[in-house]
Amino acid sequence: MTRQPSPSLVIEPTANPTSAEARQALLANPVFGKVFTDHMVTVQHSNERGWYDAKLAAREDFVFSPGTTVLHYGLEIFEGLKAYRQAGGGVALFRPDANARRFANSARRLAMAPLPEDLFIEAVKAISDLDRDWIPEQDGASLYLRPFMLAADATLGLKPADQCLFSVIASPVAAYFKGGAAAVSLWVSDHFTRAAPGGTGDVKCGGNYAAAMVAQLEAGRQGCDQVVFLDAVERQWVEELGGMNVFFVFDDGSIQTPPLTGTILPGITRDSIIQLAMDKGLTVREERYSIDQWQQDAQSGRLVEAFACGTAAVVTPIGKVTGNRHDFTIGNGEGGEVTAMLKTALLDIQYGRSEDPHGWMVQLG
Ligand code: PLP
Ligand code: COI
Repeated sequence: MTRQPSPSLVIEPTANPTSAEARQALLANPVFGKVFTDHMVTVQHSNERGWYDAKLAAREDFVFSPGTTVLHYGLEIFEGLKAYRQAGGGVALFRPDANARRFANSARRLAMAPLPEDLFIEAVKAISDLDRDWIPEQDGASLYLRPFMLAADATLGLKPADQCLFSVIASPVAAYFKGGAAAVSLWVSDHFTRAAPGGTGDVKCGGNYAAAMVAQLEAGRQGCDQVVFLDAVERQWVEELGGMNVFFVFDDGSIQTPPLTGTILPGITRDSIIQLAMDKGLTVREERYSIDQWQQDAQSGRLVEAFACGTAAVVTPIGKVTGNRHDFTIGNGEGGEVTAMLKTALLDIQYGRSEDPHGWMVQLG
């Protein structure tokens, strides 16, 4: 493979930007993931040439051969992070270095070329800057950035990608769940699992979400907002939700989250919540927790709160858990103080309303 420094992005602003009026209408109350900004990043990679043709230009559709590898074998990875308007003015990204690292790791797991982390960071900063007028102003809203990479060879040959396409698109977003900040209900999937030891559960590849879709559908049919997955081996340890990590809060004020054993995504929000909870003097355990224990503790009152967390969902209280063998409500079913306190601490850093003691925010120039 050719070794080369990352190419710099060539920036070509669109000749046909959305009018300010049309943009304001789109920004008024964006449904998650439905509205896109005017621009996109694309960078090509081939094993022979390395990374090349890095540009930030008008958003347009891709044109692919129907034989393209990603369409057949699912060689695709992605990330999710946000740009926030800052209380003091300006725009900042939350921990893009952590997303860049996880993205390179996901690429290695799928035998794709790991994108240089500095190029990832340059790309997400550049699109946030060029499309900064697309960052919504309202409280809790932000610009969701979706970096992704796919295997672009036009071949049905089952082999690692020679040619990859990296891209970033951006989407103004408000609350992820229709109910806004209200507590969500979970369906326990005791038939479908999300990830097995040795699989891809700890990387962010499209295939994980494809495999989880039917379980999410089942959750919806059961009247629940999200699915909660159990481990694939013993079918008893709580792992994570379809697109979020999970935390438990106990009556002694301690909090717990499933450990990173290779089958769950190492969430950047998860890592940040652990840090913030420790900053607040809470005891944090990264230990496995069974679904039966969760029910028992919720019923006895030992477990007082639970919440889901992730870039899209931020911090969302879990109110009710239902399954074929389970049915319980957590606390008053509406969330609680510890969840609210951690959510506020995180959002205050992200929106520049408080100190950033861990140096998480990356300001745009
Ligand atoms: N788990 C899954 C399966 C996810 O899709 C996400 C969302 O990205 C998370 C956890 C949370 O990760 P992060 O906090 O890095 O967004
Ligand atoms: C995120 O929080 O960034 C996610 O990826 C969750 C979901 C939209 C897939």
